[in-house]
Amino acid sequence: MTLRPRVYVSRPLPDGAGDLLSPACELSAYSEDAPVPPTVLRAALADAEGLYCVLTDRVDGSLLDAAPRLRVVSQMAVGYDNIDVTACTARGIPVGNTPGVLTETTADLTLALMLATARRLVEAAEAVKAGEWRTWRPSWLVGTDLWGSTLGIVGMGRIGVAVARRAAGFGMRLLYHNRSEAPEARGLGAERVSLEQLLAESDVVSLHCPLTEETKGMVDEAFLRAMKPEAIFINTARGTMVDEAALHRALSEGWIRAAGLDVTAVEPLPMDSPLLGLPNCLILPHIGSASEATRRRMAVMAAENLLAGLAGKRLPHCVNPEVYG
Ligand code: DGY
Repeated sequence: MTLRPRVYVSRPLPDGAGDLLSPACELSAYSEDAPVPPTVLRAALADAEGLYCVLTDRVDGSLLDAAPRLRVVSQMAVGYDNIDVTACTARGIPVGNTPGVLTETTADLTLALMLATARRLVEAAEAVKAGEWRTWRPSWLVGTDLWGSTLGIVGMGRIGVAVARRAAGFGMRLLYHNRSEAPEARGLGAERVSLEQLLAESDVVSLHCPLTEETKGMVDEAFLRAMKPEAIFINTARGTMVDEAALHRALSEGWIRAAGLDVTAVEPLPMDSPLLGLPNCLILPHIGSASEATRRRMAVMAAENLLAGLAGKRLPHCVNPEVYG
């Protein structure tokens, strides 16, 4: 009888992954729907050959040193800034992620944040619940139009393009800032411009770049002051790209109109964050990919990456292909 490889899953096994993993692996999973404490993760990896993880787990060199048998790390997310990929590569461990399957779902949520902030949907719904809807008033809860406005997309990868496609349908003019020309952009009529031009001309600025040393803290005072006072800032990417103290000043002092955030620098956002007191700041709890179908696809894709790694095959979606020489 061959022994099945031991795999640790850092959350209760997500829907879709169990059917694939259970027959092939000796599974153990953290039982709470909360981040696994680092000491528990460390102990669990002492004899594990595979790790199925999520973006709240810190996977670094020190953890890997405590995991001598680990052969594959599979993250159920497209972003992987929680993983020290260099440390994994140095140990010959491939790292998998889930690109593509969450693109459209995240783009949908980006549009939802744009509409909600532009048309003040949450304020309006709260006003109804608070009994403030006494009559129709010409200047009550008026917002701004998306149609006919200019959208500036910072980072024109898969999600940026999917957002652009939707925004084109709203009749928005499209600008983008990206290291290279995005081939799909031309067909959408999107124009590649400098960041300075994008910030100066956009009515909505939406962030879609990955978190790297270069992009960390990029939305700082200078960035926000370069936006138009009537502009809206949207972030469905990663929170640490934004200096939240500067964003608070921008929103409370009127440098910009509003912000819609699905991600924050610290998650969950501490309840004493001054951003929570601002009517023009809409904050969601990192639900960009949270549709049933998409979360299932992510779970399956991460399971497939894990199984490939355990079988000594190339991961279908590998972020460090250099590991294969
Ligand atoms: C990701 O996949 O990186 C998202 O932030 C969560 O789905």
